[in-house]
Amino acid sequence: MIDLTEIQPRGGLDFVTREPLPPEKLDSLSRDILTLKKKLNAVILAHNYQVPEIQDVADFVGDSLGLSQQAAKTSADVIVFCGVHFMAETAKILNPNKIVILPDKDAGCSLEESCPAPKLKALQDTNPNFYTVTYINCSAEVKALSDVICTSGNAVKIVNAVPKDRDILFVPDENLGAWVMEQTGRKMTLWKGSCYVHVEFTHQTISRIRQQYPNAPLVAHPECTRAVRMLADEVCSTEKMVEYCKRSPAKEIIIGTEAGMIHRLQKECPDKLFIPAPTDNCRCNECRFMKMNTLEKLYDCMVNLGPRIELPEEIIQRARLPIERMLEISAQAIENAG
Ligand code: 13P
Ligand code: SF4
Repeated sequence: MIDLTEIQPRGGLDFVTREPLPPEKLDSLSRDILTLKKKLNAVILAHNYQVPEIQDVADFVGDSLGLSQQAAKTSADVIVFCGVHFMAETAKILNPNKIVILPDKDAGCSLEESCPAPKLKALQDTNPNFYTVTYINCSAEVKALSDVICTSGNAVKIVNAVPKDRDILFVPDENLGAWVMEQTGRKMTLWKGSCYVHVEFTHQTISRIRQQYPNAPLVAHPECTRAVRMLADEVCSTEKMVEYCKRSPAKEIIIGTEAGMIHRLQKECPDKLFIPAPTDNCRCNECRFMKMNTLEKLYDCMVNLGPRIELPEEIIQRARLPIERMLEISAQAIENAG
């Protein structure tokens, strides 16, 4: 057992009031987190939108798909999930016997909020032939009502694998859903949810930045509206953005997603300039939920082993099947391509 008695929580500020940490404090806090990680036999998983200092202490930084694949195969005793609540829930569903903690339990998601389980159930009851494909950005209860889960990285493959005689209900992101319809040619009923960050990019804000950087291609996330996707050179998940930017001969690239992505890209491609796509309102390209996690809160959650994800056994069992179906289809797709 680990003795944590002399270790005290340090508190933390959320991103609105956050001052950058002085370099000495940043170094010592990062070192303490790494020491604690060894003691706990923990793994730190961080989403591409996390603040740079969290990305820099993580064992794995990636998109929702990569993070769930890492969660499915980890041998650590404790999973420290630096992302939003639904992502940590997914890790718990895949690891019911492990401790799963996150720095801020209130780190939600506008897509998750848009789709309460009882409303989804009521819609499903209107058509027994519905096959529900659910974007991973949703609660565990909604996952439990789904036939299969998808992420932005595999949504096209997942929808292509749906039996042809079923009516597809795609929830909860209507923009991702519309893009998947364009890519697959499959007709789908779309839930009317959206990411409050990605819909802030508009035709005007993107056209303005493209005039400023006429040689820079635009890479956009499929949560953006069609008006923005139409202007993009590539539409893909955050992880595929890394691949695209590495391969691209361009020296300047406009990034149409949450601004945390820039840190990851700059680390992977130090010789390129990444321009965060602007919005009309200041700082609207930062997800306030993702930015609730700070390095101090990460340290505190490891000291306290909480906030901890706890879910009813019945929900875990029902939600696990559609997630495993997604992981299987993704693995098959990789095998077939290889
Ligand atoms: P990715 O699946 O590309 O990581 O996107 C997750 C997300 O929350 C986008 O807003
Ligand atoms: Fe949810 Fe949008 Fe934040 Fe992603 S960026 S977690 S979709 S609110």
